[in-house]
Amino acid sequence: MVGPSLVEAFKTLDKNEFHRTVFGGRVDKGMPDFSSSQMMQKNWENLYAYLKGRSDGQIKLGDLQSIDAK
Ligand code: HEM
Repeated sequence: MVGPSLVEAFKTLDKNEFHRTVFGGRVDKGMPDFSSSQMMQKNWENLYAYLKGRSDGQIKLGDLQSIDAK
């Protein structure tokens, strides 16, 4: 395991801070910069929504569905 618990971090981290961290990294502290990742460029808002849901309890562990399934 590397980095802090995002379930805990999302209790205080907002969407802008999430975006800034993922697309800039904290390279000095070991968090890579994902700005060149196409998967991240396309999906960061879905990932944010998932992590937010996991953090506030709306999404349970293992309760995943394809985003195309609805
Ligand atoms: C999809 C992949 C990843 C996402 C979405 C992500 C997201 C985040 C976020 C949102 C934070 C900030 C937490 C806070 O401010 O409380 C963070 C911190 C951190 N992440 Fe990541 N991360 C990812 C991958 C990684 C990887 C691959 C590593 C290392 C190999 C890593 C290492 C770290 C470290 C060390 C920190 C703490 C930085 C600090 O102390 O300021 N992360 N990550």
